[in-house]
Amino acid sequence: MYRTRTCGDLRLADEGLVVTLAGWVQRTRKMGGMTFVDIRDRYGVTQLAFNQEVNEALWEKANKLGREYVIQATGKVQERSSKNKNISTGDIEIIVTTLDILNAASTPPFTIEDETDGGDDLRMKYRYLDLRRNPVRANLELRHKMTFEVRRYLDEQGFLEVETPVLVNSTPEGARDFIVPSRMNPGQFYALPQSPQTLKQLLMVSGFDRYFQIVKCFRDEDLRADRQPEFTQIDCEMSFVEQEDVLALFEGMAKHLFKVIRGVEIKEPFTRMSWHDAMKYYGSDKPDLRFDMQFVELMDILQGHGFTVFDQAAYVGGICVKGAATYTRKQLDALIDYVKRPQIGASGMVYARVEADGSVKSSVDKFYTQDVLQQMKEAFHAEAGDLILILSGSEVMKTRKQLCELRLEVASQLGLRDKNKFVCLWIVDFPLFEWSEEDQRFYAMHHPFTSPKPEDVPLLDSDPGAVRANAYDMVINGVEVGGGSIRIHDSVLQNKMFQLLGFTEEQAQAQFGFLMNAFKFGAPPHGGLAYGLDRWVSLFAGLDSIRDCIAFPKNNSGRDMMLDAPTFIDQKQLDELNLAVKATDNKESV
Ligand code: AMO
Repeated sequence: MYRTRTCGDLRLADEGLVVTLAGWVQRTRKMGGMTFVDIRDRYGVTQLAFNQEVNEALWEKANKLGREYVIQATGKVQERSSKNKNISTGDIEIIVTTLDILNAASTPPFTIEDETDGGDDLRMKYRYLDLRRNPVRANLELRHKMTFEVRRYLDEQGFLEVETPVLVNSTPEGARDFIVPSRMNPGQFYALPQSPQTLKQLLMVSGFDRYFQIVKCFRDEDLRADRQPEFTQIDCEMSFVEQEDVLALFEGMAKHLFKVIRGVEIKEPFTRMSWHDAMKYYGSDKPDLRFDMQFVELMDILQGHGFTVFDQAAYVGGICVKGAATYTRKQLDALIDYVKRPQIGASGMVYARVEADGSVKSSVDKFYTQDVLQQMKEAFHAEAGDLILILSGSEVMKTRKQLCELRLEVASQLGLRDKNKFVCLWIVDFPLFEWSEEDQRFYAMHHPFTSPKPEDVPLLDSDPGAVRANAYDMVINGVEVGGGSIRIHDSVLQNKMFQLLGFTEEQAQAQFGFLMNAFKFGAPPHGGLAYGLDRWVSLFAGLDSIRDCIAFPKNNSGRDMMLDAPTFIDQKQLDELNLAVKATDNKESV
């Protein structure tokens, strides 16, 4: 037997027991004739003690142990004279009588401690070592607990887990596909699923009624802190449901997860906000509601007074930052620089302070009378000590997005984005279509299978841009943690949708014939939702990036630094696949 106990579970009550532990050497401390070795496994750290006087050979062997050696030690549990309150086994140590080296280790490229000296790239390259560190391992343990609870919850609600294929056709979720060549079908390609959307709908046609799957999805899109090229969805679909049924079930699941994972009891129903209001008041379809600072539009109050920047703008709006009139000129200049960054792209920022006597002092005072500034103050319900920040621009949506960035930045500066506070909401009533100026055509805002609100169906012909969808997103602390919709289950309406999206009948048949044909054989009304598992875990773990809750993530260029993937493949493989590779910067044409 390699071990009788783990390195995390011995306590004072075990004093006198003879135990065998196995694990990695965390560190060795030589103190005169005593040597102490911390042995670590997944469960914790235990101190091993070696006494030169009692057994010199064993003591010498202990002194030669290097970091991360894999060892096995047998000895008696004894109370420690100097206890370590920071670890669960800190009251005891093992007086070792036998020590075996199971595997020597090279010096690790970074220290395997909670706070490591390893940079991002190095830790990604040696991810298996990074995974030995407590905080990283804890994230994966949390992930396991979440998926376990999700399965239990959905099973109790009558959902069946069904696996869908990974080699499929392209699914139109809005990102680029990852493509896999088919050797047996020369010149043809599979796509990896961006989501199992169409397949789960087919399962509803099959009568499965309630489906779920914890499933890998693949999207070739630009990466950010909350985006990986392969990520995991908790994907669900239900038959004979309306939007309210879906929202109730998944709100219930969210509350369950909060309770069992974070110990947070959320009693109130989640706030609902229309997409339109989210954009108007927060400039985002995923507003962070941990703090207020709702946008106030100021066109009526501030235009027409001779300040041309505002007069010529399509949008003038701002936020009121409570108690921030103490912001210094330097801090305000830094905020102006922030909004002027190319990634944000505002042309400038106007600010106004509400003074102790209630008067308003602004950076553009010469254009405005105190009377007008007081009207502005009223519009914000601002009080003495508050700071008003204003942006303007020629495009309404663009300027709102800039104001959204400013709102988030100010909230971060003021410490209002508390990771232990959670505010959940549903965004509903999304537009069905999004107009692309560049392509001069409509795109589905969610995906082409999303149904319009029944009362908006007549607008499909007259004003498609105004049609609202039966679609919803769940947003927590400014993160979109899930999204879904009630689907179209009628092939006539589905055909119309494809038409509006610019598909010819042949194109629609070629791409989605399988789904439209299936609908002809009795499709139940259905709808569903997919949660982003990685985002849920990182939210619960308080992480800044979903990378940290994925065992083997990709970096921001989509590379797996450890496997060194993607790679070139050799000519023989290319020939088998009937592929020729164009010349790239890195390698000659092969
Ligand atoms: P959607 O595209 O909104 O919907 O995706 C569902 C959820 O998946 C998460 N997510 C991601 N997480 C990490 N990295 C990514 N690149 C990434 N992309 C998305 C988000 C998102 O809310 N088929 C529909 C669902 C449905 O209609 O039922 C779909 O995929 O948390």
